Parts: sequence; C-alpha cells; structure tokens
Amino acid sequence: MTYLANKERYSNMKYNRCGNSGLLLPAISLGLWHNFGGVDTVENGRAMLRRAFDLGIAHFDLANNYGPPPGSAEEMFGAMLKTDFAPYRDEMIISTKAGYHMWDGPYGEWGSKKYLTASLDQSLKRMGLDYVDIFYSHRPDPNTPLEETMGALDQIVRQGKALYVGISSYDADQTAQAISILKDLGTPLLIHQPKYSMLNRSIENGVQDVLQENGVGSIAFCPLQQGLLTNKYLNGVPSESRAAKSTGALGENEVTEEVIRKVQELNTLASNRDQSLAQMALAWVLREGRVTSALIGASRVSQIEENVKALDQLEFSSDELAAIENILKD
Ligand SMILES: NC(=O)c1ccc[n+]([C@@H]2O[C@H](COP(=O)([O-])OP(=O)(O)OC[C@H]3O[C@@H](n4cnc5c(N)ncnc54)[C@H](OP(=O)(O)O)[C@@H]3O)[C@@H](O)[C@H]2O)c1
Repeated sequence: MTYLANKERYSNMKYNRCGNSGLLLPAISLGLWHNFGGVDTVENGRAMLRRAFDLGIAHFDLANNYGPPPGSAEEMFGAMLKTDFAPYRDEMIISTKAGYHMWDGPYGEWGSKKYLTASLDQSLKRMGLDYVDIFYSHRPDPNTPLEETMGALDQIVRQGKALYVGISSYDADQTAQAISILKDLGTPLLIHQPKYSMLNRSIENGVQDVLQENGVGSIAFCPLQQGLLTNKYLNGVPSESRAAKSTGALGENEVTEEVIRKVQELNTLASNRDQSLAQMALAWVLREGRVTSALIGASRVSQIEENVKALDQLEFSSDELAAIENILKD
C-alpha cells in the first residue's frame, strides 16, 4: 500500500541542535546495523522505517558494511526510499560511514582517501542517492595520517556527495586533532558517534569535554547496550533476541549474572519513575543535553514505539541520578 506519512509526525518528537551547527537532529534516531539486511524480513524493516518516520524519527543511520551481507542494509534502505519515502527525502537526515572491512585488498577498509571516496560512491549507488547528509570516518586508522582522512571528508563535501561530516569511535586526542584539521580545511566537524550507555561510559573521560569545548554534536550508539538495558534479559536469554541469534553482535557470554543483577536494580528504579528500563536508559543518555541524539536499533515496531516514549520523562532528580551511580559503581 502507498505510504502516506503521519501528518502529526513532528508534534511529539524533540529536535536538538547538533553542536553549533544549523542542523537539528531528533532526540531519538534509528540505526540499521541489524534487522535491515539481506537475511532479514523486508516487510518488518519497512514497517519499522514507516513507524519511526511517523513518530518524528527523521534521522536514519547506516554504514557501508551493515547487513548481513555487507551492503544489504543500504540496498534495502535504497529500495524503501524509492517505494515509500521518495516524497520525503528532504525531511530526512541519512548518514553512512566507511572504515571497517568492505572489500578485499589494501583499499577496502580503514581511512585512506582511496577507500573513503570509493566506498561512499558505492553507498550512494546502493541507496540511489546523489548525496548523504552525513558521511563518517567509521573508525580511526592508526596507519593513515589524520590529515589524509580528514582531507578526504573535506573533499567529499566539496564534491557535493555529503553535506556534513562526522567521526566515530575516535578518542579524545584524535577527536581534538580531527576538529582542528577540519576547521583549517573549512569543513567543520558536525558530529561524533561514540558508544555510550549506562554500561559504557568511557566518553565521559575526555571525549565529551572536547566536543563541548568545540561546539560539536554527538549521537550515542548502542544506548541500550544492544538490548541489555531493557527488560529483555531479566529472566535469561530469550530465543527472539540478539544474544541468541547467530548473526547478532551480542554474545550470550556478555549476559553475565553481574550485569543482570545491575539491570534488575535499574529496572526497579525505572518502574519507580513510571518508565520501562529502555526508556530510562535513553533518558539517561540524553540527560543534561550533552548528547544530541540517542541512536537506537530495533527488531520490531513495538520497540520503537516504547523507546520514543522515553521523551515523556527526561528529567532526573538528584536522588535518582545518585541511585543510578550507586548501582553502576559496584
Ligand atoms: N559507529 C559505530 O561503530 C556503531 C557501532 C554499533 C552501532 N552503531 C549504530 O547504532 C545503532 C544502534 O545500535 P544497537 O542496535 O546496538 O542499539 P541499541 O539500541 O543499544 O540495541 C538495539 C537492540 O536492543 C533491543 N531493543 C531495542 N529496544 C528494545 C525494547 N524497547 N525492549 C526490548 N528490547 C529492545 C533489540 O534487540 P533484539 O534484536 O534482541 O530485539 C534491538 O535490536 C546501529 O543501528 C548503528 O546505526 C554504530
């Protein structure tokens, strides 16, 4: 059936300014790392994209290697852009990345100008797009001068193949250097995409300060720690879960007794706030406005609906924050 977007789609979503830029991002964005690949059900993917857009999630995050197989999430998304979202392209922020292994030989991964340029050309073809809104260096490359990687991002913007550029998983020093190089080139760094959740707080030791000092936005990936910070694993590993899937990136061995004990305590705290644990975990990532957007994944429509409701209760009392710290510190 032809898709007509919900007329009320902008009324309940919160849009946050991305650093000092002119771009606003939804407080919740949707990533296509899992559940949108060639091995997944197209109709489920379509339903999730439609529902997300109807709820005001205007930002969709991809990478060259998302699938499996690699490239298939971009192909699926490209097909959906044609059939469902063509009239809405200018209402969407679409991002992709290059950095991880994509094809064989010395030019199929990391941060050379050769790889980044070729990979983005391939991504644009797969998605049927003339440009992406944000193009990322997916990971720092220890063997390529940062000037070359940032120079490639700058050139890509000048060629009109991306409007903005980002970096992902760069540490504080690498981030500061990237910001400085890009500033000199005249293409400011828009955004950093780090891993961040109640169970992974490494960016609090430097990266967040560098971003704040330089007016750069951030979008936190795995804010639910791949589902651990939801009610999914409270009573073991269900068969319909990422930890149980052979294509999942969450090992069953990561669902430890110690983690589950913390998750159970957090779950009780969330209930006292009239929230689900997933909702509290997202509100926590967005607290104090230091993160522009929480980048969720989903395997079904109901998860997106539940997660967006996190925005109904973003405030934390100091007692609640202290109780969370207490649970996390053990
Ligand atoms: N830059 C990078 O290097 C990098 C790395 C990883 C991810 N990312 C980006 O971040 C995005 C999100 O990553 P992620 O998928 O790991 O994020 P996440 O939000 O931490 O985990 C998503 C998973 O949690 C479960 N889930 C979500 N909502 C739930 C709910 N309300 N109740 C129960 N379970 C729920 C689902 O797993 P089930 O399948 O078990 O239902 C879902 O697939 C990716 O798609 C990608 O765009 C970027």
